[in-house]
Amino acid sequence: MEGRDLFVSVLEQMPDGLIVLDNNDKVVFVNKAAEKISDIKKESILGVDVYQCHPEHEKEKLGKALDYLKNKKHEVRRIFHNETNNTTQENLYRAIFDEEGEFLGSLVMTRDISEKYDLDEKKLLLIDQMDDKIKDLRARFQNLFLSSLETLVNTLEAKDYYTKGHSMRVASLCERFLERESLMVPLKQNIIVAAKLHDIGKIGIKESILMKNDKLTAEENEQMQQHPIITAKILEPMDELKDVVEIVRHHHERYDGTGYPDGLKGNAIPFGARLLALVDAFDAMTSVRPYRDSLSFEEAVSQIRNNLGTQFDPQLGEKFLLHLELGDLDLPDFF
Ligand SMILES: [Fe+2]
Repeated sequence: MEGRDLFVSVLEQMPDGLIVLDNNDKVVFVNKAAEKISDIKKESILGVDVYQCHPEHEKEKLGKALDYLKNKKHEVRRIFHNETNNTTQENLYRAIFDEEGEFLGSLVMTRDISEKYDLDEKKLLLIDQMDDKIKDLRARFQNLFLSSLETLVNTLEAKDYYTKGHSMRVASLCERFLERESLMVPLKQNIIVAAKLHDIGKIGIKESILMKNDKLTAEENEQMQQHPIITAKILEPMDELKDVVEIVRHHHERYDGTGYPDGLKGNAIPFGARLLALVDAFDAMTSVRPYRDSLSFEEAVSQIRNNLGTQFDPQLGEKFLLHLELGDLDLPDFF
């Protein structure tokens, strides 16, 4: 076999489709694989302008690709769906130049990638479905995590007559206040969760300190002030609770910057923490504590009013007091 025949025969039998165009974009060579992949007959396109071999809507894109090849001397890769035989093809277009840089023609290498493409599509679909499943599992895990913590809070508080039901009362007061103020739902949910769990860090504080009837010593006070940090640490492993962590960590900050644990001031304290500070204080004042009787509703309101701008956010505090005084927070009977 002559060298040229051998060469043509190799091109004919290549597994990839090969179409060669001359410098006038006329088809001058088509191998067997190209016939099969593109579902064309060699006889019907040899010598034909390549534009005539493409459907109308493809002609403009083809023209751009060929122009790009001739001018930029790069290759162009395109994936397109062949509607004639319902396959997905990858075409690689490359311009051919002689040694002087004269344009001789173009080469189109074509490959049927339907299987790979379908597989990729299926993979993407599977990844999407797995993503949804993971999200669902994370949400379920988060709910389980939160409800076990809530149970723990209830159990801890139930042991102590003075704090029984405190966190849940604070949470429902926060919820009612937020409903009155029509705040956005994501923010609202974070605050309610934070209110339910804000003192769970007390689990890390000695019972002798928690139950002490007298004033705490400086050292005991220091330990007691660790509880917002411990609460934050308990919730930190859950990425989704990032905002809740911020609220619980700062629920004992004071508006004038003299609170703990970080001495944040004014609006640097997260909104949820400023609200929680108000509601927490109101519920604590109106409940009996080991070292004092409960304050009346009016006394608690006036104590909060006296501390607006120092301990509490003045604007938020005014709103909270207004709702309290209007009686639209549906306080439980014992108030
Ligand atoms: Fe607290």
